[in-house]
Amino acid sequence: LVDGPLKGKRVLVTSGPTHEPIDPVRYIANRSSGAQGTAIARALSALGAEVVFVTGPADVPPPNGVQVVRIETAQQMLDAVQSAVPVDAAVFAAAVADWRVAKESASKMKKDKGGIPKLDFAENPDILATISQLQEGRPALVVGFAAETDDVVENAAAKRQRKGCDWIVANDVSAGTGIMGGAENDITLITNEGAEDWPRMAKDQVAARLADRIAKALA
Ligand code: C5P
Repeated sequence: LVDGPLKGKRVLVTSGPTHEPIDPVRYIANRSSGAQGTAIARALSALGAEVVFVTGPADVPPPNGVQVVRIETAQQMLDAVQSAVPVDAAVFAAAVADWRVAKESASKMKKDKGGIPKLDFAENPDILATISQLQEGRPALVVGFAAETDDVVENAAAKRQRKGCDWIVANDVSAGTGIMGGAENDITLITNEGAEDWPRMAKDQVAARLADRIAKALA
């Protein structure tokens, strides 16, 4: 661990998509490269934090020097997060699937047997809300993300209230922004003091700036 303002602090970061199995060869998932979550974990570690990085199957490799916990499903992500607490701060950058397939088929569903399948869904646990609303051992700072396409600030502020987290990093992922899977991000940080619009910058820079803010908040 390096020396820095987050030395002695333990921080959890979730990142990447979750995969919810349909059968042994198929799954449903959200679009997420894991780039922003990975950059945040790296930036926190660079400031001296002990980082637990809980990641779904992402496109980018996890940073060095962090404790990596690899999971596939939302339920596994929740289990890993619950094993990682208590932490001083938690950043939920993962794109968690809201629903899982209610009954995973143990064998491959065959195209030539009985037409087009219908899938029933069940609701996944909301990991951010669960940790934000912990009665005991809640992290001092809980940061959620909100990927929105319309009314970004309004929706994100409502989400902050609903989930009970301290900050929301809201980003506009509408088509044409190039943010999904891209190298840059355009975010608004929503805290109890209001909305701060950050200029569009590299995801690494967003991560560095956010890590800096987290260090100040925990100081
Ligand atoms: O409700 P929505 O998915 O838009 O909220 C996004 C935020 O909630 C992100 O921080 C995401 O990581 C977190 N989340 C979660 N568990 C879920 C769904 C979302 O932790 N099941």
